[in-house]
Amino acid sequence: MSPKSGKENKAHKPWGGRFSEATDPTVERFSASIHFDQVLAHHDIRGSRAQARMLGQAELISSDEVQELLAGLDQVAGEIADGRFPFDPALEDIHMNIETRLRVLIGPVAGKLHTGRSRNDQVATDLALFLRDVSLATQRGLLDLRGVLLERARENVDTVLPGYTHLQRAQPVRLAHHWLAHVETLGRDASRFRDARARINRCPLGAGAIAGSTLPLLREQTARELGFDAPTRNSMDTVASRDAALEYMAAAAISMVHLSRLAEELVLWSSAEFAFVELADAYSTGSSLMPQKKNPDVPEIVRGKSGRAIGNLVTLLTVVKGLPLTYNRDLQEDKEPLFDSVDTLRDSLEVMAGAIATLDVKRERMGEAAADPMLLATDLAEILVRAGVPFRDAHEVVGRIVGHVTRKQIDLRALTHADLQSFHEAFEAGADELLDLERSLESRSLAGGTARVRVEAALVEIGAELAAERGELERLEAQAEGGA
Ligand code: ARG
Repeated sequence: MSPKSGKENKAHKPWGGRFSEATDPTVERFSASIHFDQVLAHHDIRGSRAQARMLGQAELISSDEVQELLAGLDQVAGEIADGRFPFDPALEDIHMNIETRLRVLIGPVAGKLHTGRSRNDQVATDLALFLRDVSLATQRGLLDLRGVLLERARENVDTVLPGYTHLQRAQPVRLAHHWLAHVETLGRDASRFRDARARINRCPLGAGAIAGSTLPLLREQTARELGFDAPTRNSMDTVASRDAALEYMAAAAISMVHLSRLAEELVLWSSAEFAFVELADAYSTGSSLMPQKKNPDVPEIVRGKSGRAIGNLVTLLTVVKGLPLTYNRDLQEDKEPLFDSVDTLRDSLEVMAGAIATLDVKRERMGEAAADPMLLATDLAEILVRAGVPFRDAHEVVGRIVGHVTRKQIDLRALTHADLQSFHEAFEAGADELLDLERSLESRSLAGGTARVRVEAALVEIGAELAAERGELERLEAQAEGGA
């Protein structure tokens, strides 16, 4: 069943007719893709079922033959599902493995399945079906992580921490506002997958190797049965293009980069220097040498894995760059990076959701850091602006005040009315009266700001958005399952 020598396996090749010599075993090993493209088995069978029914409709095969093919494909699907399928590298890829097995199971009628079909339009179909499915799964992962972040945001409207620019304390913000910032980013990521999926709406079957077929194939039918809007419009483009995979991988790379930023914050925040959070034991590991350590390996690995997603995208861009129309065997190199991006993003989303759901937020520590009165220096400048002082001048005045208190090592809030007036006569009270953390937060009530009203409105709005997205996703998931 698993021929090793070149001579024996010649008979197994579907192109055997033109060849008098068997494939060199090294070439066989080099060109085989079955060890990774078996991931597409389910999609390949789905495409073949549609193909078989269509051939029957087109009267290219009899209805008995259709039934035999479908029954055989069911058997193959069963063998794959319970791990009994004899994957054979000598049969190169998933398409030939399945077809050959079908022949063993149902005899020569198996040879009719490939009527008017090439592996070129077949693999394009498999990939389109695969991408449609994984795109939904990825959107589900992004939705779940956003759900967790939203939940944590709801619990932390009253938790205040310093917001940072240049990793320097900048202005106080609510932790809810901070978590919702990540929800926004990840929401755009989800929309990228959604948009890209809508472009995978045409069915490659019938494009053949490059220029279609002389046979009366019913392309509309296979398209409809597989849940596409229509057949693809140009047979050459169909077998040559891989931009759907590129789009997925580009969106995945962006998403992984976003996760790496979130991950980096968890790493930073769980250091003794910040001590803003503590990861749950279930989401950290210890050191084999230093007993006191609790390491943030989960976010570190997510941060590290973002490199793969970027690399995978660059790999496929490089494979496709400069390829002449149409199909070239280089394109077989699309799969490993694609599958890796899919798995990497799926796992990263899952562990990040778990890590954040179980994160211990150190509210007091954050609060202490946010109580640094220097974070309110901008407020002081804006008080002068309200009194009619041009902003540039106000900035300069407050800059001198900050320099003064830093040199003297005194608290900004210790400055009396007279002290402030010595810097600018427009100040109407002492700093301890003018500067108040809660008031400062509350006065940032512009759209998109960190004031309680804004944050609470955002929580409601995003909650509704996520619910609507969940509903739509469930609808598409049910549709995808129905279309097997
Ligand atoms: N395993 C091949 C791939 O992934 C399938 C298409 C092969 N086509 C061909 N003309 N050799 O690209």
